[in-house]
Amino acid sequence: MSGATPPEVEVGLAAPEPGPRVEAPFGRRACPVIATESVGAYRLLAVEDHHGPAPLPGQFYMLAAADGWGGEAGERPYLGRAFSVCRSRGTRLEFLLERIGPGTDRLGRLSPGEQMLLVGPLGIGFSEPAAPSSTGVLLVAGGIGIAPIVTWAEALIASGAQPLTLAGFRSRAHTSAAQLLGGDVQIATDDGSQGHDGFVTELLEAELEHDDARAVYACGPPMMLEAVRAICARRAVQAQLALEEAMACGFGACFGCVVRTTTGYRRICVDGPIIDARDLDETWLER
Ligand code: FES
Repeated sequence: MSGATPPEVEVGLAAPEPGPRVEAPFGRRACPVIATESVGAYRLLAVEDHHGPAPLPGQFYMLAAADGWGGEAGERPYLGRAFSVCRSRGTRLEFLLERIGPGTDRLGRLSPGEQMLLVGPLGIGFSEPAAPSSTGVLLVAGGIGIAPIVTWAEALIASGAQPLTLAGFRSRAHTSAAQLLGGDVQIATDDGSQGHDGFVTELLEAELEHDDARAVYACGPPMMLEAVRAICARRAVQAQLALEEAMACGFGACFGCVVRTTTGYRRICVDGPIIDARDLDETWLER
């Protein structure tokens, strides 16, 4: 972060930003878990959702287990957890998770036949790149942020684009998630155990050095997204960022997920999670 003086921004929340969005049915619905699978260090959960509309790539759901939710120490986990949809096949929805806390641990222990409670699809999805980048698309994924990139890569390929995905992980144990991707993939690992030894943003720099007439889409941890934003801003490359944030409600009521943009604060759950990188500057990570 720069330490620069934050810009004057309007504090106040307007109607949700326009963008590609499928509206969620009202309320939480129970969906049976139909399959689970270990994908390296991650877990892939598939549920059957007969009562929700098909999500758009980039949209997310609030997930909770129907049983054993709130039963841990301190009654954790309590709130649902936000997950981007990783793949969608008719009524089948797939979510990728890493067991890092009480919520993700309970979800990761679900078995086929158990019920998951979900709300969604929520938020804004990715938008098609503007010409002339209709076939030159760079996707950048960091860790579990690969989930929405998987479904967006599928949609782009189906529309005739040829995306190249740059996927960064902590170690080889996490790179198995890249098997979910279609199209061309380059891998980077923080510990150098597979692919490029270093940050995925170094791969992005190299690709844009070669050809910067491409649209960029990225999802990953905030510091990675800030690096993507800064790289794209320097080169005037169009980019959409899928922001990650802990969410309490997921539908705009609690204001717990706001992010500072150049035009004011926005709620990531309803005005995102997909944000045009031009709407952010180097201060967006500052609270
Ligand atoms: Fe409550 Fe966004 S999570 S307003």
